Parts: sequence; C-alpha cells; structure tokens
Amino acid sequence: MKKDSQSNVVLIGFMGCGKSTMGIRLSYRMQYILEDTDKLIETKAGMTISEIFAREGEEAFRQMETQLLRTLAEKKGRRVYSVGGGTPVRAVNRPLLRELGTVVYLRVRPETVYERLKNDTTRPLLQGEDPLGKIRRLMAERESAYAETADVILDVDEMAAEQVVESIMRSVR
Ligand code: S3P
Repeated sequence: MKKDSQSNVVLIGFMGCGKSTMGIRLSYRMQYILEDTDKLIETKAGMTISEIFAREGEEAFRQMETQLLRTLAEKKGRRVYSVGGGTPVRAVNRPLLRELGTVVYLRVRPETVYERLKNDTTRPLLQGEDPLGKIRRLMAERESAYAETADVILDVDEMAAEQVVESIMRSVR
C-alpha cells in the first residue's frame, strides 16, 4: 500500500551503488527530508557500523535496521530514504521498504563497486582477502531480493549523477 507515500523515494542497492550520494542530491532537488538509515543507526548506537559489527555482530545490526524501518514507517511527510545495502535481504524488511515509498534499485556491476570501494575501510563485509570475489558472491546472492523489492530498476554504471537524479524524479512523478 503506497497512497500518500507514493512520491517518497526509497533507494536500495549494493554497497557503493550511490544510494547516499543520490539521496543527498535528490532530497535537495525535491526539497524532501533525507533519512539515511546507516547514519541514523550510527547516531542512535553512538558507534560506527564497523564498531557495531565488531562489538555486537551482524545480527544485532540487522535487528537495528528492521526496528528503524518500523519507526520510519510511522513518520509522515515527504522523504527520501537511503538504506543499507543489506536491508532488502531480510524478507521482513521488504514490505516495510515498499510501504515507505517508491523503491528505486540502483543497479551496478561488481567491477564498479570494486573500483569505488577498493580503498574503503568502513564496510565490514568487504574487508580482508579477495574483495572483488566477495562483491560478486554477495551481489549474486542478493540480486533477487533487490529486484523483488524494487518498483524501478536503474542501471547506473554509466550514468552521471545528474542523470540518475532526473531519472528517479521522472519515475516518481
Ligand atoms: C551493508 C551495507 C552498508 C551497511 C553495512 C552492511 C550490506 O551500507 O549497512 O556495512 O550488508 O550491504 P551501504 O550500502 O550504504 O554501504
């Protein structure tokens, strides 16, 4: 059920696909409030995502994500949501995401993610040996969850940021 929240935008996709950047740009262009779930979780926990994974484990983080989605669903008003790359993987989160607004999947190739994140230390799931292999495996595992959750799929590898913003705005109008 979308109704009033129809013009709200929910950005999903793999780490490094541009959800946070596009979230900032879109919220500015649309004059909507931005809700970035990773940032909200970090603020609430008083820890970075890496610290949460290291101290409390991935499962605790996943519970925080679901809890936060439930809270966000209660909020009224025009919003752009940028959620963590793993959020649509939990089945319970998928209807919650769809309730928030029009779900846009920013799809990228594994190589694009690798190039963007090869020096990144803030994604615990991609640390250690063979990050490209990890990206490929995780992306293959998640593809159906992303596609199933999405109202709109955009292949963004070759798109400039402004083109992505325009496409998203067209798809929610
Ligand atoms: C994760 C993606 C991250 C963050 C956490 C787990 C994932 O968010 O939620 O590190 O499972 O894909 P970004 O997609 O914003 O990097």
